[in-house]
Amino acid sequence: MEQTFIMIKPDGVQRGLVGEIIGRFEKKGFTLRGLKFITVDSAFAEKHYADLSAKPFFCGLVEYIVSGPVVAMVWEGKNVVTTGRKLIGATNPAESAPGTIRGDFAIDISRNVVHGSDSAENGRKEITLWFPEGVAEWQSSLHSWIYE
Ligand code: TYD
Repeated sequence: MEQTFIMIKPDGVQRGLVGEIIGRFEKKGFTLRGLKFITVDSAFAEKHYADLSAKPFFCGLVEYIVSGPVVAMVWEGKNVVTTGRKLIGATNPAESAPGTIRGDFAIDISRNVVHGSDSAENGRKEITLWFPEGVAEWQSSLHSWIYE
């Protein structure tokens, strides 16, 4: 089953949105496979956002990600990468539909509350970076109520 890396960014933690965001993934039917509450340093944040290192907003982005603890998670399910991005909404909250996490809870692109992997391949890379120890092996007892 597909997995994705989801992170509640420091603004999401500070604003008390952890339960709300986790709840949306849980209620959708996805399975939580890994979760940790950590503050990362600049070197780590630069690795996570390496693909964006040439962008003008890169330094500000790294400063923001290291500014406080984040909730790093692995969620699993059918099409979880694409559907997870739909739950999150567009990168710029001004363009995120109401009902999405960013559409409901964010205003500024650089304070957009949550991260989600943009492809299955990047999901695998990000999971390896954030969870080098691996994730939990388990299957939800609700499986047959969510999937045919
Ligand atoms: P990106 O990977 O393009 O978006 P997403 O998080 O939706 O996959 O960009 C990473 C983060 O960089 C984005 O969530 C917010 C920040 N960012 C800015 O601060 N300014 C910008 O102009 C863009 C495009 C992104």
